[in-house]
Amino acid sequence: MTSPSASALPQASRRTLVAALVVAFAGACIVLVLLVLPAARSDPYTRSTLELGGSAENGGRLFLLNCAGCHGIAAQGLVGPNLHGVAQRKNDRQLIQQVVSGRTPPMPRFQPEPQAMADLLAYLKSLV
Ligand code: HEC
Repeated sequence: MTSPSASALPQASRRTLVAALVVAFAGACIVLVLLVLPAARSDPYTRSTLELGGSAENGGRLFLLNCAGCHGIAAQGLVGPNLHGVAQRKNDRQLIQQVVSGRTPPMPRFQPEPQAMADLLAYLKSLV
């Protein structure tokens, strides 16, 4: 019969491993809750934009003025990529972030009023 101390060590280290995994998972959850969700959910600009109904027609006009120089008059792509079907690649929040964040130079950071952003969003989603 093995002594209790011989089998206690592997079990203890297994418990340590499980505890470490639990802590790591909890840490990842906290990071997600603190950083990612508020950025996605409670950003007041994004929220108010998504609450508004957008007009694709107005959005198209805004697009011609602000975006067509890079994305092409028919959003067919020029300096910036072709935007047809972009709503299948990016969700509403991601599309808004793309326009307002300036995170992907050379595309500049735009600061449209929520209604204008809602219109642009409707236009982008109309590009099938
Ligand atoms: C100075 C040029 C420029 C202007 C102006 C510009 N964009 Fe862009 N846009 C880009 C470039 C370049 C990218 C690709 C960025 C990357 O992912 O690296 C891009 C990417 C995008 C994407 C994501 C495309 C994808 O396939 O994921 C969207 C949506 C978009 N632009 C919308 C707009 C809208 C709407 C406007 C006007 C409000 C605008 N862009 C104005 C250059 C521009």
